[in-house]
Amino acid sequence: MIPRVNLKDPESVVQRRFTDALKQTGFCILSNTNIPYELHKQAYDDMKHFFSLPLTQKIHYEKPHIGRQRGYASYGIEQAITANVPDPKEFYSIGNMHSQSYGCNIFPNSMFEQNARRLMDQNQRLSHRLLGYVSDDLKGHQHAFGWAWRNGEHLLRYIHYPESNQEILSAEHEDINLLTILPYSPQPGLQIQDNQGTWHDAPLMYKGEVIVDSGDMLKLYSKGIYQSTTHRVIRKTSGERYSMPFFVHPEPTFLLDENVTAKTFLEDRLRSIGVLN
Ligand SMILES: [Fe+2]
Repeated sequence: MIPRVNLKDPESVVQRRFTDALKQTGFCILSNTNIPYELHKQAYDDMKHFFSLPLTQKIHYEKPHIGRQRGYASYGIEQAITANVPDPKEFYSIGNMHSQSYGCNIFPNSMFEQNARRLMDQNQRLSHRLLGYVSDDLKGHQHAFGWAWRNGEHLLRYIHYPESNQEILSAEHEDINLLTILPYSPQPGLQIQDNQGTWHDAPLMYKGEVIVDSGDMLKLYSKGIYQSTTHRVIRKTSGERYSMPFFVHPEPTFLLDENVTAKTFLEDRLRSIGVLN
């Protein structure tokens, strides 16, 4: 059972319910996020337009030498660690506007850029609030990491799963980053694995809601206090599917434990899934 938290509730209630949800299940649905559904809808339209372009145009925006952390990643590039075949998807990544680690963002047109920048800003505001809760929660256990996410390697990713006969759209995996914020999608398909290995459909969501999960970086940093729960995306309906996760990262130099920086952790994982050469 994935808990649902109303962000308009009193702060102390939101903080306790949100952190408890991530510690117990690794997932939480948030309502009243202040991110207008209309903005997500505009971004969905932008990505549909971009992905409909011929490959000869799209590959102008692909940068393999930076692990495709900005711009386009062509179909079949990413393969989950446990999978035998690549995920049937192409995607487009927009990084934190304040980060220069992977160079500047590139945009196919001004409307795409304008909406992506607004969405990036809204997601960052929400992620700062959520990581503030986690940071406060962990203060009793370890040093606070409140500063570490202000200039983090956050990534907004537009994902397109073209029509195919593959049942598994995104093979089972745990997220690499601290938190992932995923907006409502009109197409079902997200499944979450419980401790006994059984798959469950993600709860029905409503327009304007987001689902948040905690990833491997937060699990490592919190020494297992926070879960990084296995999940996947399967084909439930025919036709194309679109998705728009926002991956919350700390700054590259942030130490996740005594020996591992966020940058090292990220790039090792990017190599293991094929997006960084
Ligand atoms: Fe994921």
